[in-house]
Amino acid sequence: MLSISKILKKKNKEKITMITAYDAPSARIAYDAKIDMILVGDSIANTIYGYKDTLKIELEDMIKHAQSVKRGATDAFVVGDLPFLSYQVSTEQAIENAGKMLKYSGVNAIKLEGGSFVCDKVFKIVNSGIPVMGHIGFTPQSYNQIGIRSRGKNDIEAERLIEDAKKLEDAGAFSIVLEMVTEDVAKKITESISIPTIGIGSGKYCDGQVLVWHDLLGMNPDFSPKFSKKYLDGYGIIKEAIKNYIKDVKSEKFPSEENTFKRKLV
Ligand code: KIV
Ligand code: NA
Repeated sequence: MLSISKILKKKNKEKITMITAYDAPSARIAYDAKIDMILVGDSIANTIYGYKDTLKIELEDMIKHAQSVKRGATDAFVVGDLPFLSYQVSTEQAIENAGKMLKYSGVNAIKLEGGSFVCDKVFKIVNSGIPVMGHIGFTPQSYNQIGIRSRGKNDIEAERLIEDAKKLEDAGAFSIVLEMVTEDVAKKITESISIPTIGIGSGKYCDGQVLVWHDLLGMNPDFSPKFSKKYLDGYGIIKEAIKNYIKDVKSEKFPSEENTFKRKLV
């Protein structure tokens, strides 16, 4: 299994790969494909539960899915997202829920959103023995406040992001997700800190990349974000398979002899 120290050592040597997964069979596929890290993201609210945003998912749901991922890929390095309102209320709440995620699901680290303003929490969580991955740039849990758009487009935003990244490193985060950060700022952040940056929509200079399972595999024909890449027409291929199944049943081609149990006649 990958360890924090091995992840840190990859910086400046080898790109780090991460993909989201929400269940056991998916986790197994990603692990067998030799992904570095699996993220049980709160993007599950969109991808699996069909919500429009990530706000409605509960810690209990995240823990259940993280358990499933760990069952499917016991030796994978798994990061579990802390969902909305599971760490914002207080430092005590943040430590307790980060601890629950680790204790009950067996994930190897937790991730939470925010920069400077969550650093006191990050510090205390890390010092409770719970590895933390940061997440700055576009942070979906606060889209109502900040809007859905890329970050770092002006100097003030750029400076703030670099400051946030440095403070997260100081607070003890082992890595930081940069979501929809302009390429130049992502590059600057990556060069300014000694922990790896994991980009999504933040260009090629990040130390690693993360993609959402359903985006990478083309599971949703109505959603193709600019920063993602479809490596499969999952929607089309799966639909075709189901169509073939329907056709076979209607035409009585399935089940066939080989799918059928028979009584031995003596
Ligand atoms: O929930 C998620 O999938 C994420 C990634 C986009 C980083 O946080
Ligand atoms: Na997330």
